[in-house]
This record gives sequence, C-alpha cells and structure tokens, in this order.
Amino acid sequence: KQKQVESTLRLAPVVPVVIIDDARHAVPMARALVAGGIPAIEVTLRTPAALDAIKAIAEEVEGAVVGVGTVLSAKDLRAAHKAGAKFAVSPGISPGLLDAADDSELPLLPGAATASEVMTLLERGYRFLKLFPAVPAGGHKLLGAWASPLPQVKFCPTGGISLSSAPDFLSLPNVVCVGGSWLTPADKLQSGDWAGIELLAREAAALR
Ligand code: 3PG
Repeated sequence: KQKQVESTLRLAPVVPVVIIDDARHAVPMARALVAGGIPAIEVTLRTPAALDAIKAIAEEVEGAVVGVGTVLSAKDLRAAHKAGAKFAVSPGISPGLLDAADDSELPLLPGAATASEVMTLLERGYRFLKLFPAVPAGGHKLLGAWASPLPQVKFCPTGGISLSSAPDFLSLPNVVCVGGSWLTPADKLQSGDWAGIELLAREAAALR
C-alpha cells in the first residue's frame, strides 16, 4: 500500500484538495484537472456531495486517480472505498483510524504535524505522510529540519500552500508533492469555469 501511495503522489507536483458542493460539477472538474496534467485528485468529505462526486469521477473520468480527503473514521474509510476512492487522506491520526486503515485495501496518506507523530507512523509502517497544516505547523523550514533526522519519511505538505510558495516545498528532498485547494476555487466550480481550472492545473503541473 505504501507503493500505491508513492506512485499516486508522484503523478504530479500538486494534489488538488477539493471541497465540492454539487456532485454534478465533479466530472467536468476532474476532466479539466486531468487535461491540465493533474491526475490525482483529493475530494474531501466535507460536503454531502463528496461521496457522489468520488463515485462519478471514479466511474467516468479516464486518467483520474480519485482519492478521499478529510477521513476521520473507519466509517469514512469504508464509505469512500465503496464509492470508488483509490487513496485516502486524513488530517491527523487516531488509533481507531490506523487500525481501520490496516484492515482496509485503501492506501492511507495520514497527516502528521510533530516528530512524535511521524515516529508513531513510521512504527506503523508508513513512509509517506501528509504534513498538515503545513504552513501553520512550520512550513518548509520544519520539513527541512526533519530531513536530516527522519530521512526515510517523505511528505505531501498541505495547508496554506499556493502556486507561489509551492517551489519552496518541492525543492526539499523529503517532499514528493504538495496539496492545495487553489486549483479548484469555489467561484470557478460554481460558475463552471472548467477552462479556468484547466489553466490552474497546467500551471501547477509545470511546477516541476
Ligand atoms: C484544507 O484544509 O482544506 C487543505 O489542507 C487545503 O488547504 P489550503 O486551502 O490552504 O490549500
């Protein structure tokens, strides 16, 4: 499962973090992201439309690798797997979620914000983690400081990152990609500005 997480995270420099209010937007949005060079998409479980959106993308969008974000519980993990999610992302960890992830086929990218959480996750077999919330937790300086004592762990920092700050993260040896919501802003989703989203994806894909 760590290999699956790694190959998903290496698809592009950015994983868009999506908050979707209308499941009908899911397919054109995902097609725009894929067309712009961004195949791995995290749809967060923050809206009632999220599971339907994941299902639609999984079934209809060729080239997309749809994941589920904001996973807090075993129940979330089961529902997302059933909907067709290919990976899961959590903002942090709990013993219950880690046990559920061990029992699930769905690979988990768990969130960590301290060296102790990183060590706990290393003990449980994780080598790919999300740093969350990346900028408030210490940003690229924190990751730079972890690279020496914790070189075996690679990160997808997420939270507070933008197109202009992404290169500070992507240049670090322990960063595989970054996450961010800037590729799918609410106004572009609501107005159906798929060309605008494709352009944002293209800029993000060119970061490497
Ligand atoms: C979130 O919490 O929604 C994600 O971490 C994305 O954060 P961002 O909106 O700061 O990119």
